[in-house]
Amino acid sequence: MIKSKFYVTTPIYYVNDAPHIGHAYTTILADVLARFHRELGDDVYFLTGVDEHGQKVQQAAEKRGLTPKQHCDDLAPRFSSLWKELGISNDDFIRTTEERHTKVVQAILQKVYDSGDIYQKEYTGLYSVAEERFITEKESESGQFRDVKVLKEKNYFFKMSKYHERLIKYIEDHPDFIRPEHRRNEMLGFLRQPLGDLCISRPKSRLNWGIEIPFDRDYVTYVWFDALINYISGIGYCSDNVRFNRWWPVSVQLIGKDILTTHCVYWTTMLLALDLPLPEIIFAHGWWLMGDSKMSKSLGNVVRPLDLIAQHGVDAVRYYLMSEMNLGSDANFTPENFIKRYNSDLANDFGNLLNRVSGLIGKYFDGIVPAQGELMEADRVIQEMTATLGARVEILIRAYKVDAALNIIMDLIRAVNKYMEVQAPWKLAKTDLPAAGRVLYMSTEALRVAAVLLRAVMPQKAALVLEILGVPASGLAWGGLQPGVKLPVFPPLFPRIELAEKTV
Ligand code: MSP
Repeated sequence: MIKSKFYVTTPIYYVNDAPHIGHAYTTILADVLARFHRELGDDVYFLTGVDEHGQKVQQAAEKRGLTPKQHCDDLAPRFSSLWKELGISNDDFIRTTEERHTKVVQAILQKVYDSGDIYQKEYTGLYSVAEERFITEKESESGQFRDVKVLKEKNYFFKMSKYHERLIKYIEDHPDFIRPEHRRNEMLGFLRQPLGDLCISRPKSRLNWGIEIPFDRDYVTYVWFDALINYISGIGYCSDNVRFNRWWPVSVQLIGKDILTTHCVYWTTMLLALDLPLPEIIFAHGWWLMGDSKMSKSLGNVVRPLDLIAQHGVDAVRYYLMSEMNLGSDANFTPENFIKRYNSDLANDFGNLLNRVSGLIGKYFDGIVPAQGELMEADRVIQEMTATLGARVEILIRAYKVDAALNIIMDLIRAVNKYMEVQAPWKLAKTDLPAAGRVLYMSTEALRVAAVLLRAVMPQKAALVLEILGVPASGLAWGGLQPGVKLPVFPPLFPRIELAEKTV
């Protein structure tokens, strides 16, 4: 098998408040992809981090009576420690206040300035304080922007317009570059209008919490020209060419749909100006909604991941988020929905299958895994379904259909539960013990393969199942389950949540 490289990134999150489920979602998604690719034998690098400069962060610090640096030093670990709680296997965690990043931003500014793609001009325009950017009149009329005021000032601009045609051509020539398809069309639509240049500075007199522009010390660089660069400063651009060339271009950049333009237009034109290859895929997922509105701190409707983990365990949270969202669309978070999916997929289907097989093996075989024996027609159906599952899941994961991949794993588990009902090994045990052993072996082996495939989504629980089955390091090949192994007694994997105690 050819080992390929897989470099995956998440957006770097603003440290204006503690992380919520929306932030956790993108990070878990990146983690699932990273883990899956590691299981496939790929060389994986997974980068995430925090975005620490800019007005929003400065204001959040002021509100708390802290300096921006103190505020960031307090908030950044809340993200990194939440990622630990969530089992995130990132290789690095970048903070934009770190010197390894600020130095690269300055080097890039100088480089692009020297090549003539950054210039200064006086500009009067409508400025959205909430969005931290100048907006067009049309955008202002849309009513979607808060805190809009007229602002006149001298600033530095990046010649984004110079790369307009090249970017359109690139998107047209690379149908898989921006995904899903409707986001690609949205970007092509956006690029049908004239593309202006990008204001990339703020006078220090107005905002000083930023990276100083190397060729004009009265200015700092504007957040996006700083933040986007993390994707290359984090892998050694300008400091370690070997490492940089090993990972760039990035395999997939996961973002929410809210930052589509900044990634597909600002970031890509910056890369063109630097003469660097563009990302292989920019994938924009939808939003987690609460009712009809986006879950966001400013709307005060956020779900805190730690509360959910404390109640239902980390793997249930990871499973729910991955199975409930179809990657291009929005999804609705409701406590009822969470409990419904937990009870049906995890408690009734997955957890119950483990209970049943181990209970019956305990009762009729003294807890010792029986031999497979000779297969009958119904067994072959299960074997076939199990043996092809890995390849089918891989295709779906490579197509970024994580929810569909989970669904076909659960289909196998449901099929095995049904097979058990039809075969009734508890009845067979009374007349034909080897036949009962065969059914139990088949069912347990299918469960084992499902657990191997669920490892990327539920690392702890899947590992626990494999440990219970006595084959922690087993892979996808049929026959990994070892007859003769004694199964331990264990508490239920996913205890059912009774509706009365729903307090998500
Ligand atoms: N700092 C910028 C990104 C810079 S990337 C170079 C930023 N940060 S953010 O804290 O606002 O987080 C943005 C990302 O968090 C979104 O793109 C998305 O991936 C995730 N989400 C935040 N709220 C979300 C939902 N309600 N639903 C799904 N994802 C959401 O923008």
